[in-house]
Amino acid sequence: MSLFRKGNTCVFGLQWGDEGKGKIVDLLTEEADVVVRYCGGANAGHTVRFNGQRHSTHLLPVGIFRPHILNVIGNGVALDPEALFAEIDEFTAKGCAISPANLRISYKAHVVAPYHKVEDAARESASGGTHIGTTRRGIGPAYADKMQRSTALRVVDLLHEETLKNRVQQVIGERNKIFKVLYDLPPLDAGRVFSVLRDLGRRIAPFVDDTTPLLLEAARAGKRIVFEGAHAVLLDVDHGTYPYVTSSNCSALGLFTGAGVPPSICENYVGIVKSYTTRVGDGPFPTEQDNKIGQYIRERGDEYGSTTRRPRRCGWYDSAAVKYSVDLCGVTEIVLTLLDVLTGLDELKICTGYRRKDGAVTPFRADINELAQVEPMYETLPGWRESIADLRRFDDFPVQAKNYVKRIEQLAGVPIRVISVGADRAATLLR
Ligand code: GDP
Ligand code: IMO
Ligand code: MG
Repeated sequence: MSLFRKGNTCVFGLQWGDEGKGKIVDLLTEEADVVVRYCGGANAGHTVRFNGQRHSTHLLPVGIFRPHILNVIGNGVALDPEALFAEIDEFTAKGCAISPANLRISYKAHVVAPYHKVEDAARESASGGTHIGTTRRGIGPAYADKMQRSTALRVVDLLHEETLKNRVQQVIGERNKIFKVLYDLPPLDAGRVFSVLRDLGRRIAPFVDDTTPLLLEAARAGKRIVFEGAHAVLLDVDHGTYPYVTSSNCSALGLFTGAGVPPSICENYVGIVKSYTTRVGDGPFPTEQDNKIGQYIRERGDEYGSTTRRPRRCGWYDSAAVKYSVDLCGVTEIVLTLLDVLTGLDELKICTGYRRKDGAVTPFRADINELAQVEPMYETLPGWRESIADLRRFDDFPVQAKNYVKRIEQLAGVPIRVISVGADRAATLLR
């Protein structure tokens, strides 16, 4: 079964994350040569399932499971070297060979240091202020330092011990004052932080590369590149439901800055969409079902975070939100996942837009003030009771499932060619 189309492909989520990007990137890697992560960090959790085993990657591109793939971590990633090596050790123990031959890291990527994780957790635990419900992986503080500039660390800085020592001393000096006043935390020891980062730098050195020429050369040589998006459009720091977002440009629009490649490199924009909606952490979610329907979906879909195991909030499919993402990112096709989870529900609702308090109908807009007070407008479709998990031909689907897929496709305005009906590689069909 070939999921591939001519040209390079960006795979990314159109909702609030966990759409099954990992599964689809893994399927594409069968025919690809290079897989590139371009945003986010260890806050992602991408699950693949094959040979009866389940694996979740956080920082490593999903191509790590196929020996022929070159995996690239782009400059847009917030790289936590401790988390990276924990992951490398985990997958090495499971039999993956991981070396500079199949993993390269941009020297321009920013570093998530131990104090970023302390700060993320302290800010989230503090009473008062806005609670985001982050993964506490240090993502926000690391990207804040990137924009601040004078307090940031890039991967390349780990390789220059004098620069690193001076920078750590300065940063820890500042951080200790702030941590004491804001969170009453004991001071961090700059010397210890330096030696941890220096040792991680020595270990990371062989993987560090200039990944832009590497990717341009691969493209020129006709290699097939998959850009593995993390998180999703509605969590993008510019275009998502700000401030309840992550801190990177994790829509497809972040691909060029985050991978360090020109727009002409990528032709296919494959949006991954779950057959319903989920969200982890805080923030508006108009179609949320905090009731028996939501519980049914959570249990059948095993909707617990791959990174934090938090229960995911579940709700009806929101086509207004998906349409926003489709239009913003120029999605060329949708892959519809987790359709099997909806089996057994008498009826299914699809949100087609919102009604404001003043009666006006609005499309999705990334404005939390508005989203907090709108009422979703629903269409109701009949559900189906037969299991579809073992079906591999769209023609064999119950008519209600076919109609549900066709309606989602019509509302999105782009074709659905691939449907996923189970977590395993094999549980996938081409229409
Ligand atoms: P990602 O972050 O987009 O890669 O998605 P996650 O891996 O965080 O969450 C998706 C979950 O759904 C994982 O547990 C997958 O194994 C699982 N999954 C993916 N596709 C399907 C599907 O079609 N049906 C079912 N039942 N599970 C799926
Ligand atoms: P994948 O790639 C779902 C959410 C967090 C929180 C917000 C900010 O697996 O789809 P952060 O730690 O990034 O500062 O948290 O963003 N979030 C995700 N939710 N899937 C993800 O990634 C997410 N990455 C971040 O739950 O609400
Ligand atoms: Mg995930």
